[in-house]
Amino acid sequence: MNILAVESSCDETAVAIVRDGRQVLTDQIASQVDLHRIYGGVVPEIASRMHIEAIYGLADQALEAAGLSRKDIDAIAVTYAPGLIGAVLVGVNFAKAAAMAMDKPLIPVHHIRGHIAANYIAYPELKPPFLCLVVSGGHTMLVDVQDYTKMRILGTTLDDAAGESFDKVARVLGMPYPGGAALDKAAQNGDPAKYNLPRSKPGANPYDMSFSGLKTAALNLIHHAEQVGEQLDIPSLCASFAAAVSDTLVPRVVAALKETGYRKVAVAGGVAANSIIRRDVLAAAEKLGAQVYLPPLSLCGDNAAMIGAQGYYEYLAGNIADMSLNAYATKSILGEAL
Ligand code: KG4
Ligand code: ZN
Repeated sequence: MNILAVESSCDETAVAIVRDGRQVLTDQIASQVDLHRIYGGVVPEIASRMHIEAIYGLADQALEAAGLSRKDIDAIAVTYAPGLIGAVLVGVNFAKAAAMAMDKPLIPVHHIRGHIAANYIAYPELKPPFLCLVVSGGHTMLVDVQDYTKMRILGTTLDDAAGESFDKVARVLGMPYPGGAALDKAAQNGDPAKYNLPRSKPGANPYDMSFSGLKTAALNLIHHAEQVGEQLDIPSLCASFAAAVSDTLVPRVVAALKETGYRKVAVAGGVAANSIIRRDVLAAAEKLGAQVYLPPLSLCGDNAAMIGAQGYYEYLAGNIADMSLNAYATKSILGEAL
């Protein structure tokens, strides 16, 4: 089954064609990052306008790159939530028009479910159930992936997402948007023990987490140094910050592996590209004899291949939308059948 998949929830317009949920025939991305960088973050209206300009050409490009014609497409999958609403609407409207014109099923895909499914592309042998640490720009949660479309949230961030806190600290350090990758790079030569930053302690739900205290502590440290004219060791500050994020995430992953008895853990989302988190999850899970699934960097950030992968399993579960499908800025990953 060839699924034409569309992703436009933030600042990447993406169209992919994925066969049977696992084989990526083509994965086209038009990134707007350079444009938003001028403003230090995503400007929603600009994002929507760039999506609408790029999306039709990108779909033609995808068909051409895959050597397919429209009649070879069996269904259209699209991110319908969550994201910048104007941006998501562009993809949803395009997908509806394509499904109508081609008379094919329309499959709504939750963006975070898509991030999890990036692992199905990278690891053909991976099947639920498994544990997934989702760390993106807007979401941070620990998910029990019981089946392809059946999930249970073990814990979430109570405030900022991990990616958001990386980006904020990077921005204050003068790194270009989105700062997570730049901060990761700077951290490579730093001493993670040099700056003492707080770790979020387990609360009522031991799997919940918090990053705003850590973010504020890092920002206070930077502002204080500026005020007193102290020269900060930037690589070590970046390394200390990444270590604190990792120390918040990894013990929860370990506890969840122990509680669920799962011996498979995947990481998903843009922050899954972080070298320190990747290293620490790998080391901690291997100690428990668990298999770790880390998507290649190309599948960590937003892309449409992951939407095509999850779209296949949504289709098999009967999650098909009609022409009244809407877009949502926020929606739980648990999503009810549509
Ligand atoms: O999943 P994603 O592409 O978008 C959302 O769905 O939110 O995640 C983007 C986030 C940004 O916050 C970006 O700074 C972060 O992923 N990111 C990283 C790294 N690469 C991307 N954060 C830490 N280390 C990285 N290497
Ligand atoms: Zn994303």
